Amino acid sequence: MECFLNNTKVFIDENYEELSLRSAQIIKNQVDAVPGTVLGLATGSTLIGTYDELVRLHKAGEVDFSKVVSFNLDEYFPIKKSDNQSYYYYMKKHLFNHVNILAENTHIPDSEAADYEAECAAYEEKITAHGGIDLQILGIGNNGHIGFNEPGDAFISQAHYVKLDESTIKANSRFFDNENDVPKHAITVGMRTIMTAKKILLLASGEKKAEAIFQTIHGAITPRVPASILQLHPNVTIIADKEAARLLL
Ligand code: GLP
Repeated sequence: MECFLNNTKVFIDENYEELSLRSAQIIKNQVDAVPGTVLGLATGSTLIGTYDELVRLHKAGEVDFSKVVSFNLDEYFPIKKSDNQSYYYYMKKHLFNHVNILAENTHIPDSEAADYEAECAAYEEKITAHGGIDLQILGIGNNGHIGFNEPGDAFISQAHYVKLDESTIKANSRFFDNENDVPKHAITVGMRTIMTAKKILLLASGEKKAEAIFQTIHGAITPRVPASILQLHPNVTIIADKEAARLLL
């Protein structure tokens, strides 16, 4: 089902598989239309089905990433790139190793940088030098975070080093042996990079995202729910499965 809710285009799909096929198709359409497109990429379990489908489309000769440039939203800091929980590792595993994107065109905040402040500034400059993001893909945290822009007192514009929310550490601990192993900090792009993207595609799957999706679309615009700022962006598409959309209709 397709509808507009509070000025946001929303697709509500039956299940995760349909959501993944739809989001991959939107990304493919963008790359077909603008081969040198600058994609803002996200990680997390929600994106795995989308990347699987993009890999399938690429192997079937239906999408060409040879001119695509990508910037990931965020990365734990510090973490070894070789760690199987780093987003560097995730992106290679789920997408980069299986499509023809050029390694030099892919960018992820450097989780092994000596100085995180310098890394944040350099990352931001690189995005600006590429003219910003054409299509920004987003997942959403149970607490409404986008990238690792955590709930707080202000929307932070610039790329920054962030202490992860307790709820994020808990949610992400499912990927680690135990909660203590989850990195406590990360580097994330700020709201400026996200809000100046020409288009935004946000994906949400599962019951745990229902409240965050409701607040994102219908709630007050507040840094307590970081994704609520998307109400101010002119070109946002949200794809939710039935569970994540449960409170919408
Ligand atoms: C992580 C990422 C976010 C992602 C979110 C949701 O913490 N930093 O960019 O959107 O979690 O993850 P999942 O899709 O696994 O629910």
